[in-house]
Amino acid sequence: MIDGKKVLFSGMQATGTLTLGNYLGALKNWVTLSEEYECFYSVVDLHSITVRQEPAELRKRARNLLTLYLAAGLDPQKNCIYYQSHVSGHAELSWILNCFTYMGELNRMTQFKDKAAKHADNINAGLFTYPVLMAADILLYQTDMVPVGVDQMQHLEITRDIAQRFNAIYGDVFTIPEAYIGKAGAKIMSLQNPQKKMSKSDENPNASIYLMDEPDVILRKFKRAVTDSEGQILYREEQPGIRNLLDIYCACTEKNPQEAVKEFEGKGYGELKEAVGETVVSLLKPVQDEFARLSKDKSYLDSIIKENAQKANYYATKTLRKVQKKVGFPERIR
Ligand code: TRP
Repeated sequence: MIDGKKVLFSGMQATGTLTLGNYLGALKNWVTLSEEYECFYSVVDLHSITVRQEPAELRKRARNLLTLYLAAGLDPQKNCIYYQSHVSGHAELSWILNCFTYMGELNRMTQFKDKAAKHADNINAGLFTYPVLMAADILLYQTDMVPVGVDQMQHLEITRDIAQRFNAIYGDVFTIPEAYIGKAGAKIMSLQNPQKKMSKSDENPNASIYLMDEPDVILRKFKRAVTDSEGQILYREEQPGIRNLLDIYCACTEKNPQEAVKEFEGKGYGELKEAVGETVVSLLKPVQDEFARLSKDKSYLDSIIKENAQKANYYATKTLRKVQKKVGFPERIR
């Protein structure tokens, strides 16, 4: 608890260009959650180097991502928006937690297996202990709630296991975090293959809407979206392409599928694609404009980055000192 509010933590990696899926599935909800919780939203750059990065590129993308957090509407006075690498406590706690995590547990992580297969030439120890760093992120702020997608559930489970194990030995040190499973429906699929999740790493640029796509590009991608030959706009499993378009429409407008189906009754696929495209364009426009504005304001961004890193460090150090004392490290002489 901070100032009577429950603590929420989440983070994103600055790899690839963010998609509409990232926005509707995460960022947009973060803004809503920030009204109720004391939120820490991190750009998790320590995690990024588990795969090889071009340094200048990583720095640029990380700054763009942080700017995007703000452009999406997260108030940096109310939320703590910061780079993970600016708070050394993440790495320090991660080391300690490594000593409370078993090889066997980490071996079971499906994301590790996937990534190891994908980067067979660089299966480094950081990739293996990635979930421990994630546990440190979460536990460092005595987090109550973690909004995560299904792909991160296993990592949240191991975080809870590590925290419980530590608490069982040393007393109540960590708050045990819970998953925040958001409202259903915000899982956005590829526009070219609606069986597959919309991904920032898809090679086909027509498969994803990128947050910074120009309006005409967005409209064109929707026009080319894969549908079917049924010719009816219904919300059902047999029509995954149409269902995805309706899901996107609903996530943007906060309508439910039944309302959307009714709205498009008797209309053609062309009209649906255009309407969804227009809706997405107008949803993203203010975010894009604000991103452009903020990007030019270097000194403002720098001051936000500095202040928020200080705030994060304050809370992180509180937990870290407690943990260091518990495990038997000597007190610091001041
Ligand atoms: N691993 C997460 C992802 O790739 C990002 C992340 C890092 C995270 N630390 C976190 C998410 C802590 C939630 C909480 O999506």
